[in-house]
Amino acid sequence: MNAAETNYLAAVWPHSLTSAMAERRTGVKSSEPRKSPVRFRKKHLLSVADLTRDEATGLLDRAEAFAPLLEQQIKKLDTLRGRTLINLFFENSTRTQSSFELAGKRMGADVVNMSVKSSSVAKGETLIDTAATLNAMRADLLVVRHGSSGAAELLSQKVDCAVINAGDGKHEHPTQALLDAFTIRARLGDIEGLTIAICGDVLHSRVARSNVALLNILGARVRLIGPPTLMPAGADRWGADVFTDMRKGLDGADVVMMLRVQRERMNGGFFPSAREYFWFYGLDEDKLKHAKPGALVMHPGPMNRGVEIDSSVADNPAVSLIETQVRMGVAVRMAVLEALNGGGEP
Ligand code: NCD
Repeated sequence: MNAAETNYLAAVWPHSLTSAMAERRTGVKSSEPRKSPVRFRKKHLLSVADLTRDEATGLLDRAEAFAPLLEQQIKKLDTLRGRTLINLFFENSTRTQSSFELAGKRMGADVVNMSVKSSSVAKGETLIDTAATLNAMRADLLVVRHGSSGAAELLSQKVDCAVINAGDGKHEHPTQALLDAFTIRARLGDIEGLTIAICGDVLHSRVARSNVALLNILGARVRLIGPPTLMPAGADRWGADVFTDMRKGLDGADVVMMLRVQRERMNGGFFPSAREYFWFYGLDEDKLKHAKPGALVMHPGPMNRGVEIDSSVADNPAVSLIETQVRMGVAVRMAVLEALNGGGEP
């Protein structure tokens, strides 16, 4: 982690989580599936902490309304007709970028994918210059992924349009957490009271940070499992119980969320070898037996098979929700795009 990133995370994390947890305590739980669009208090979606419990539940309800549409032959709405969505990805991504592209198109928006490698950024343009370009293009919605924590927030201060954080460094990935919650809810019903174990490279994971925050907002009991070298200092103050012994951490868990070992963010030896990592922290059938009988397995992808997860678990449709997560992502992102745009009935 570079110094700027460390400062950013120290400033916004876990204070932002604490305020989200306060919201959770005061938030109203919606009982009826939401038929109308959610309206955000904030212009952007930069962090899960931007959401109240009511807003988060409302988005999941709204995604539930959109999900059947994706199974139909004609999948298009015109809620965002005439709007421009720009996908600005500074890091490689297949599923998140295409998920936002599909969601935007299915809501009727014009979607532009900006390929950063071939853009002016590669020629030395700064993030601020990029913001000026985006303003000139009159974008309405900007989806941004960047390798530095805080990049989405910085852009949001410089552009006129709504910004959605699609992953900023090790900070947050709010729509991943929303689609994970939606996937769990679709399978197990209410999230309140479930025990959810998040396991692996917590240190480098924006998915873990966003999930701990959102699952707390929704009333789950969260555990973090990983080797001490990949567990951030102070993780026990995020709203999760911390375990270094995977078997103990899995004991009684309803859901096991595996995290990718993020080698591209590692600049040293965080564990001796992939083989040893798998021995202690790789999810296989044997370790899964320590969770609750019938426990479900998730992974945000892309997976390192044989490092954090064994194919016998990942590809077992009786336990694995990994494909469902990808499918649910589009409906959840449609709900988010609508909420940031002011909305309209489907
Ligand atoms: C995650 C990401 O990029 O943060 N993946 C994703 O969005 N599908 C997790 C990861 O890369 O490990």
